Amino acid sequence: MNITEDIKYIGVDDHQVDLFEGQFEVPRGMAYNSYVIKDEKIAVMDTVDGNFGEEWLAKLRNEIGDAKVDFLVVHHMEPDHSANVAKFAAVYPEAKIVASLAAFSMMKGFFGTDYADRRIVVKEGDTLALGKHTLAFVAAPMVHWPEVIVSYDMADKVLFSADGFGKFGANDVEDPEGWDCEARRYYFGIVGKFGPQVQALLKKAAGLDIKTICPLHGPVLATPGEVAHALGQYHTWSSYGVESEGVCIAYTSVYGNTKAAAEKFAEILKSKGCPKVAMADLARDDMYETIEDGFRYGKLVLATTTYNAGVFPKMEEYIRHLMRRQYQNRKVGLIENGTWAPMAAKGMKELLATMKDVTVCNTVVTVKSAMTDENVAQMERLADELLG
Ligand code: FEO
Repeated sequence: MNITEDIKYIGVDDHQVDLFEGQFEVPRGMAYNSYVIKDEKIAVMDTVDGNFGEEWLAKLRNEIGDAKVDFLVVHHMEPDHSANVAKFAAVYPEAKIVASLAAFSMMKGFFGTDYADRRIVVKEGDTLALGKHTLAFVAAPMVHWPEVIVSYDMADKVLFSADGFGKFGANDVEDPEGWDCEARRYYFGIVGKFGPQVQALLKKAAGLDIKTICPLHGPVLATPGEVAHALGQYHTWSSYGVESEGVCIAYTSVYGNTKAAAEKFAEILKSKGCPKVAMADLARDDMYETIEDGFRYGKLVLATTTYNAGVFPKMEEYIRHLMRRQYQNRKVGLIENGTWAPMAAKGMKELLATMKDVTVCNTVVTVKSAMTDENVAQMERLADELLG
């Protein structure tokens, strides 16, 4: 596959992976992208997951035949991209390894060597000339690990963006939801904590004329519309801005009564003109879908049961996920249930109080076992407060 006349795609698709990074469900598989730049000097951009070393090397050979590789550029050391560095180094003994200093120290940990005799250490502002193409390196610490660099090909105006602008899903199956949904779940699941660092990278990217984004996962973004859209979405996500008008309702329910309250509340919101209500059962739906919706909308409703004089475990887990990703600048409504001593709202408030600019509505709906008319009246008040 041609990215440009000289830049070829040599990545692989993984349909065997059960959980990406040990926790993310990827029903449409996962792509590990790698590229080769064919110039006077040949540069390979990253490797792929450990299970695909032979397939990847075969794709590389298919592009360059028996030619020698001059450089392997390692943008990120997480093993979904770097697992084949040692294998590559053995197959191409004359190639230099190009990476940040921190990446070489991680190589020592992974492979027992930091390639001192064949390495080129690069940092922000350094360049690597290949002939017609020159790569300029930009530091991108914590997008997604501390050693990350991205590179920009000045000839073809291609940004090799490491994990940035990545997406769940293999590239050989079409995603009926388009780019945003799984790119957003990927962003908030993996990089969401590091908004300020992503903002710093976007500021640097703003100074570049980017025609194409080549991420390490998901499709290459190759049209001006795709590039502008992805940059815009990353700006919203990394600044913790509101992407869509609407309310996310996240609930847990043991016997269906809290679920019934959550559903009634959704109905009330819609009757009051709320443009979108996204509902999720935290015990049964994908946790990371609900995390992305928590960030997507400006308003969140948490409905849960009291459990061991506190918050039901799946709800506590959800709130802590938000907390770790610097959830902020949002309005939150609470619905609690408790048969003899409702305590969930108190527990949720304590967790939410640690977050920046999170406003909890004064009206709290307290269900004692099953929803009553008084609860519905409380919900009307909560909906007005939330939407007001
Ligand atoms: Fe795709 Fe952070 O590795």
